[in-house]
Amino acid sequence: MPNIQEEIGRRRTFAIISHPDAGKTTLTEKLLLYGGAIALAGSVKGKKNSRHAVSDWMEIEKQRGISVTSSVMQFQYDGFCINILDTPGHQDFSEDTYRTLMAADAAIMVIDASKGVENQTRKLFKVCVMRNIPIFTFINKMDREARNPFDLLEQIEQELGIRTYAVNWPIGCGKEFRGVFDLETRHILSFEGDSGQHTVSQTEVTPEDPNLAALIGKYNHAQLAEDIELLDGASEEFDLEAIQSGKLSPVFFGSALTNFGVEPFLKRFLELTPPPLARKTAEGEVSPFDETFSAFVFKIQANMNKAHRDRVTFLRICSGKFDRDMEVYHVQGDKKMRLSQPQMMMAENREVIDEAYAGDIIGVFDPGLFSIGDTICAPGKKLCFEGIPTFAPEHFARIRHKDTMKRKQFVKGVMQIAQEGAIQIFHEPESGMEEVIVGVVGVLQFEVFEHRMRTEYNTEIIRENLGYQYIRWIAGDVEKPSQLTISGDTKLVQDFKDQYLLLFTSEWNIRWALERNEGLELLDFSKG
Ligand code: G4P
Repeated sequence: MPNIQEEIGRRRTFAIISHPDAGKTTLTEKLLLYGGAIALAGSVKGKKNSRHAVSDWMEIEKQRGISVTSSVMQFQYDGFCINILDTPGHQDFSEDTYRTLMAADAAIMVIDASKGVENQTRKLFKVCVMRNIPIFTFINKMDREARNPFDLLEQIEQELGIRTYAVNWPIGCGKEFRGVFDLETRHILSFEGDSGQHTVSQTEVTPEDPNLAALIGKYNHAQLAEDIELLDGASEEFDLEAIQSGKLSPVFFGSALTNFGVEPFLKRFLELTPPPLARKTAEGEVSPFDETFSAFVFKIQANMNKAHRDRVTFLRICSGKFDRDMEVYHVQGDKKMRLSQPQMMMAENREVIDEAYAGDIIGVFDPGLFSIGDTICAPGKKLCFEGIPTFAPEHFARIRHKDTMKRKQFVKGVMQIAQEGAIQIFHEPESGMEEVIVGVVGVLQFEVFEHRMRTEYNTEIIRENLGYQYIRWIAGDVEKPSQLTISGDTKLVQDFKDQYLLLFTSEWNIRWALERNEGLELLDFSKG
């Protein structure tokens, strides 16, 4: 019988985030390779797609299957049980990524060494900061021409507002990338080989080694001596608490494609990253080591198989142990139940599982009972995890059904797709479901929504794009939202939890509203 405390203590659950093309997929694959979960690189499917078309999404979904396949990958390495949460590569589905980050205990931020911090990195970083989770930085593609490493660190610090702690330092870049200097052990790891498919060989020497210049090249040797001098004077001190609370980001350099620096990164990352974190509920924090089972829903994926309307709901286990046949309590539905076909992705296979522990992610079949953010726990335990924040959509459209006979299907489709978090829906105060305002983060979501309404709910819709660009939740001391002073092109709406929001066409209008309404506070996310 495995010991519950030990099992939980060896779990590490994290997400890898990056701007598209920085190397997230490649790094994920290489971590799996080192974990022995795959034999050859190139076998992780579900490549990102950059065109904007429904067919791309269909293709992505087909490749993914409706499974835990690309949602989480579990493997063992060095005594650790590792859960890598996959995040969609396509920018238009970044809302999905935001939610996935809610299930992670740490994030690895992959940065392209020639490009530095990019747009999507900034957005995702903000979400990690909201939760104070540790953020590790992997500066990738050192085998290409790269920016000066000091400049890269400075950019991260200035643009993202996080301090950096260089764990290692690159020796050369491009064709001359020869290895890294480990600032903690003060050893040089020199890499050899370029096949990317197999694990790379490495030689460890000290900076004083007489053969060093021959090993890394004369120019690199001189540059390294200079860099070490600068680093010794200027780099941040190691501070585990600051790392684990997301205030200091350990930085590693490497090349995922050639495997250079990947294994040293994985080893040190696992030492520094925390086991499952405690989670907040209205009644206080729940420790992962509390042996009573609890979990929350962070993702729902619709089944593409039209014949079976069921969906896969993903749960992040927050405490204790899950057993396949155990009875659980769905707090929001106030119902006891057994979870149907709990499954997990082990390396390349999806398996029905018998047990899982805090830190793990399981997928269960769901006929439509769950919503994002729901709590599931052992019967007799009444707790409710803090909701998953809803992030401000950036594109809006008014939608109606084309055929009035199809009203029922229209309402059902819109509600179910919104419940999955694939779109957000709003309505004007006092109005019903005849006309709904749909908000999305990426425009591709609109097309997918229309496609799904047509194929899954047999309903044609009329979509009228709206010129709003910003939405803000109304917070603070506002008694009658309908009496706020707002500009003519600002609209008051409600979400389906009856919270009031304002739709704006410009940032100027946001400031205008704030200036004219004392006590008004506007949030760009809702706490759920
Ligand atoms: P993403 O998931 O963050 O979007 O990036 P992905 O890993 O798919 O990598 C994007 C491109 O960058 C890929 O090339 C990949 O091979 C390349 N790449 C990733 N890591 C490195 C690295 O360390 N060094 C170099 N030189 N390239 C790297 P592609 O041509 O777009 O795709 P593919 O044809 O190789 O699949």
